[in-house]
Amino acid sequence: MSKPLILVKLGGSLITDKTKPYTPNIEVIKRLAKEIHEAREEKDFNLILGHGGGSFPHVSAKKYQTQKGIINGDSYTGIAKVQNDAAKLNRIIIDELINAGENALSIQLSSCSISENGRIKYMYLEPVKALLNDGLIPVPYGDVGMDLKQGCCILSTEEILNYIARTFCKTELKPKKIVVCGIVDGIFTGDPLKNPETELIQEITNENIKTVGNYLAGSSGIDVTGGMVHKVERLLEIAKAGIESQIINGLVAENLKKALKGENVNGTIIKW
Ligand code: IPE
Repeated sequence: MSKPLILVKLGGSLITDKTKPYTPNIEVIKRLAKEIHEAREEKDFNLILGHGGGSFPHVSAKKYQTQKGIINGDSYTGIAKVQNDAAKLNRIIIDELINAGENALSIQLSSCSISENGRIKYMYLEPVKALLNDGLIPVPYGDVGMDLKQGCCILSTEEILNYIARTFCKTELKPKKIVVCGIVDGIFTGDPLKNPETELIQEITNENIKTVGNYLAGSSGIDVTGGMVHKVERLLEIAKAGIESQIINGLVAENLKKALKGENVNGTIIKW
């Protein structure tokens, strides 16, 4: 029996300042890396750690409208810049994971996957499997993707983790759960950063998804991948395949560590 596998996403707004271009939240990144390392010392599990792009690739992605595909001659410059900007943030994350004592390696989706209308059609997963087999941490991240229909697209971390989870679902690598870390406690009935009256939704299931769909507005700051609606849709798809997700607040110290260790954390559970 292989070790349980947990998929994690560190949201772009958690690890960068989404209001200031190219600004990492370095103290937050360091703390999260330390929590991951401590959790892995205390409990035996495998991890795929995805992360968003925040104020790094979203700037060029927005400028060149990369999510729309190749729309004019400048789109090619956009593809190169988005890949470069996403990779710069990824290097910072990898650096801090290594500093914290973890053997983490980048997985660059623009180089190992192909998409169709913004959905990953194929991703070469053999290196990810080999890394997991050796107890290393593969780190995929929101990236530009080459797309068979529209030329290029933006691949969110949720789309990447969704593909990995669905592919691993019927194997012994079936993920135990997905933990998504953001800057608020979970999914709310409105935008908690703008309206303090909004309430946390503890659970999203097939029963309340219609009502929740009405609540989901765009996320704060810049976002080209469709905000919270897109992210919850991708997590719901995985829930249907039998894998629960948990959305938690990564700004609260120890939350990620507790979630990784299977301890109770305030947040929103997405299950089917
Ligand atoms: C998109 O990734 C990153 C790019 C624009 C290339 P995500 O959708 O996972 O990133 P965040 O969490 O919204 O920043």
